[in-house]
Amino acid sequence: MTDRREAESFVRQFHHEQPDAGDAERRVREVLAEIDRSGTYEHTPAELSFGARVAWRNAARCIGRLYWRSLVVRDLRHVASADGIAADCFEHLRIAGNGGRIRPVISVFAPDRPGRPGPRIVNDQLVRYAGHRTAGGRWIGDPRAAASTARARDLGWKRSEEAFQVLPLMVEERPGARPEWYELPDGSVREVPLRHPDHGWFAELGLRWYAVPAISDMTLEIGGVRYPAAPFNGWYMGTEIGARNLADAERYDLLPVVADRLGLDRSSERTLWRDRALVELNVAVLHSFQEAGVTMADHHTESERFLRHIAQESRHGRPTPADWSWIVPPVSGSTTPVFHRYYDPVDTSLRPAFLAREH
Ligand code: ARG
Repeated sequence: MTDRREAESFVRQFHHEQPDAGDAERRVREVLAEIDRSGTYEHTPAELSFGARVAWRNAARCIGRLYWRSLVVRDLRHVASADGIAADCFEHLRIAGNGGRIRPVISVFAPDRPGRPGPRIVNDQLVRYAGHRTAGGRWIGDPRAAASTARARDLGWKRSEEAFQVLPLMVEERPGARPEWYELPDGSVREVPLRHPDHGWFAELGLRWYAVPAISDMTLEIGGVRYPAAPFNGWYMGTEIGARNLADAERYDLLPVVADRLGLDRSSERTLWRDRALVELNVAVLHSFQEAGVTMADHHTESERFLRHIAQESRHGRPTPADWSWIVPPVSGSTTPVFHRYYDPVDTSLRPAFLAREH
């Protein structure tokens, strides 16, 4: 049953922020009556768009919130079958990819209803590289995807020995149902091969990354209604790939490889070979996306935009809760303005919100 207080407070917030949207009290009465009758209620398209955008605005870990108003909201609440969801996720990737000019998009599929839970996407992102450990203990691909890779194989998908093999999309029509799986079709996944502006050998490493980071395992909650299948994307900030995905020891772990090709002395930590390799890896990521014409932010620019976002929100009388440890970039923190201050405290009861899924 949808929480009446959550519903009411959302409707009031919507009308408070969108004064032209009509009579708030009438809509509150209508929504409460619908909940009393059916156990839940249906958002209007305007409420859904507003709710999804505010969920982004409320995301305390996201540095990219300046553009929250521009989120493209795809109303796919009528889509609940695995085939339909997969087809619309692939369409999502095409719309978001937009030939390289990445657009922030969310696709909202059927919500949970009393006695009738909605569908779930098993993958944590629409695009992810598979990963597994060989019998010899060596990792192939992205260790982060080990569980999804095993799951896909259980369902009958064949993995390869490639370092960048895109996982299939796995969709559950009901929680706990056996997922259907789908290879991502040609043309839906834009990838960028990585090279370095000054080092020809870098391209020989054969590294690449996908263009659209689309989180698919968080529940969008608006006014007490839960949308468990609501994949959303922004564009990448270079450090997510260059300082984490490719660099973390538990991910692609490439710093020793890059350091050796750079001819750095790895005999002591004090040579700062890790730091030097990390910077060159990040240079290569930013350079390659730029040359490919794929939107990507650098951490200096995105930090500055985030402080503009905070100032803009405060002019509207709103706080910007933020998690310092997520906002400060994983390289060169102190060279960015977001490092040198604290933020409004994170309030986990803030709604609308994107919530970690309870599995
Ligand atoms: N950090 C995640 C990754 O590297 C993506 C998280 C969302 N990022 C974004 N720029 N919207 O895949």
